[in-house]
Amino acid sequence: MNTAIITISNRDNARYHVDSRKPLLDSLRAQGVDLPYGCKYGGCITCAAKLILGEVNQKPQVALNNRQINDGYVILCVARALTDCTFDIGVESHDKLYRNPFLDPLAPHELKADIAQPLEPET
Ligand code: FES
Repeated sequence: MNTAIITISNRDNARYHVDSRKPLLDSLRAQGVDLPYGCKYGGCITCAAKLILGEVNQKPQVALNNRQINDGYVILCVARALTDCTFDIGVESHDKLYRNPFLDPLAPHELKADIAQPLEPET
């Protein structure tokens, strides 16, 4: 099967059937879901949504660092659903997306995947 059911928890649990071979942003917008976007190639972070349940493949994205990925953020313009998923969308889902890098800088393991350093084993 190449379909998945997407539930939007902060839009009254509205459900949508999507083609899991297509980016979630395109599939959901085509069904009338109002989602922000910019570049549509995974680089600008505008389309980020928070994954509550399920799994996606978002390998082409370059916008998120490891901290944001671990907090559940997904770049909808390149992500494909691997399973049925539940998301929070829109700016209200962005509560953990940004933080002040001067007040709260990222640890080496929280950086983008290509420059992140593994956690030091505890001694
Ligand atoms: S629209 Fe730019 S990262 Fe998705």
